[in-house]
Amino acid sequence: MKKIIAIAFTMVSVMAYSQEPVKILPLIPMPKEIKQLDDEFVMTNKTKVVLLNDKLKPEVDYLNNYLKTNYGFELQIISSLPKEGNYIYITQPEVQSGLTENYDLMMNQNQLLFSVENNAGLFYGIQTLIQLLPLEKTVAGVLGEPELKIPCADIKDAPRYQWRGMHLDCSRHFFAKEDVKKYIDYLAMYKFNVFHWHLVDDQGWRIEIKKYPMLTVVGSKRKETLIGKPGSDKKPSPTDKYDGIPYGGFYTQEDIKDIINYAAVRHITIVPEIEMPGHSMAALASYPQYSCNGGPFETWTRWGQSEDTYCAGNDSTFAFLENILSEVCDLFPGKYIHVGGDECLKDRWKTCAKCQKRIKDEKLKDENQLQTYFITRIEKYLNSKVKQIIGWDEILEGGLAPNAAVMSWQGITGGIAAAKQKHNVVMSPGKPCYFDHYQSKSKKTEPLAIGGFNPLDSVYAYNPAPKALSQEESKYIMGAQANVWSEYITDFSKVQYMSMPRMAAMAEVLWTPIDKKNYKNFIGRLKIHSKTLDKMGVNYCKQFQNKK
Ligand code: ACM
Ligand code: ZN
Repeated sequence: MKKIIAIAFTMVSVMAYSQEPVKILPLIPMPKEIKQLDDEFVMTNKTKVVLLNDKLKPEVDYLNNYLKTNYGFELQIISSLPKEGNYIYITQPEVQSGLTENYDLMMNQNQLLFSVENNAGLFYGIQTLIQLLPLEKTVAGVLGEPELKIPCADIKDAPRYQWRGMHLDCSRHFFAKEDVKKYIDYLAMYKFNVFHWHLVDDQGWRIEIKKYPMLTVVGSKRKETLIGKPGSDKKPSPTDKYDGIPYGGFYTQEDIKDIINYAAVRHITIVPEIEMPGHSMAALASYPQYSCNGGPFETWTRWGQSEDTYCAGNDSTFAFLENILSEVCDLFPGKYIHVGGDECLKDRWKTCAKCQKRIKDEKLKDENQLQTYFITRIEKYLNSKVKQIIGWDEILEGGLAPNAAVMSWQGITGGIAAAKQKHNVVMSPGKPCYFDHYQSKSKKTEPLAIGGFNPLDSVYAYNPAPKALSQEESKYIMGAQANVWSEYITDFSKVQYMSMPRMAAMAEVLWTPIDKKNYKNFIGRLKIHSKTLDKMGVNYCKQFQNKK
């Protein structure tokens, strides 16, 4: 049966293949291989889905849910070829190669054929199909049947990188569960597979931990928030202004499970970030006994780096963090836990008797090696829970913990150093992967941002593969991600603005083969795709619309 269908497909496809593209297909990211065809597949409420393996049903349910929400109808699922009418046929190759994210999609006016090894491949194929659907249904016949006219193409697709990440800082500003789900929807649309969830920082602890209720009673709240830019990143300055409005919010463990499940349906793994040893003021405001000097502290109301951190000389600090991580590991099914590690000032450690004793007892050279001791001890614990740690590139400072992966944000040198040491790496250099930076120089249109300048074209041009690495070393680059820090992103509409359409450009960096990338072509597709963003109610930066 499969063979007959394949032969029929080849014949129709050859007949219908046109030398000239019929029209711009608004696919983002651009697939690995695509041949546009003259035909059209008209999906109606009579179109059937032929599904031979029930294991793939969740992805068909996802499609049906999308159709129902957006066009008011869904497709009947059957297990053999229909006697009449067009259909979607989902097949799996007899020989599995293990490339679970790949998919082939072959189309003619009668059939739309997916060949996928596994659920992820079908999910990405369905995302492609969704991007080919018209914005609005048309109606036909005396009964006014809904119709979706889909331009045909033959597509063979596969991702360039295994880690295709987007980050969101929910500490500096808190985003409601429904908004986090919308963000995950954007990731799914662009075939990202990692959501790096920054849940903890100086300005707010946002994850319920049952054993330590004060983390949310105290640490999820701050008494007010800095307005605009501070006079100095280092310490409060007399010109700083505050809004006087209490701010707070956190996700219950039930919320978190709900979001994890929502992401899992979309083939997105969540990497939670629990910051240590720095960026820990919200935790220390709640439990000051785990600092070097005992506090008291407040959840921070301004941005920057704190001199106060977890005490590395106190064994009870590690018991506290391990108990927290135990709950985090029970919640999050993914392999990686992000332990932060960035911007840890070592001032307190230099004067803390317990930290200095630890340095002496462990025969460490200095405070940088004390940081390595800290991260390695946490790594050992997380490895015992069958998890891997990932941390910002400062975890290289005193030497890497044995199994740590590195997220390179201070440029690419940390990533290069880690790859040369045979550690896995995610590239996320501030330039161009920080989406809290400006994307336009127009003072009139741009809302306040932290600084920097990462316009759409620079994101699009980014290549996560450093030239300094040999082919062998490059294998440690798992991929890349873009980060949305929220010091100056006060609401979800601004999250949308800062991430769109740069997220679309990043998607193409991570998915599309480098020789298939073309910025002009991307802008052409984006112009059409932006109508979908309009329909979704996304507040995006419209600078690209002026480009030819
Ligand atoms: C960072 O931006 N501090 C990772
Ligand atoms: Zn200490």
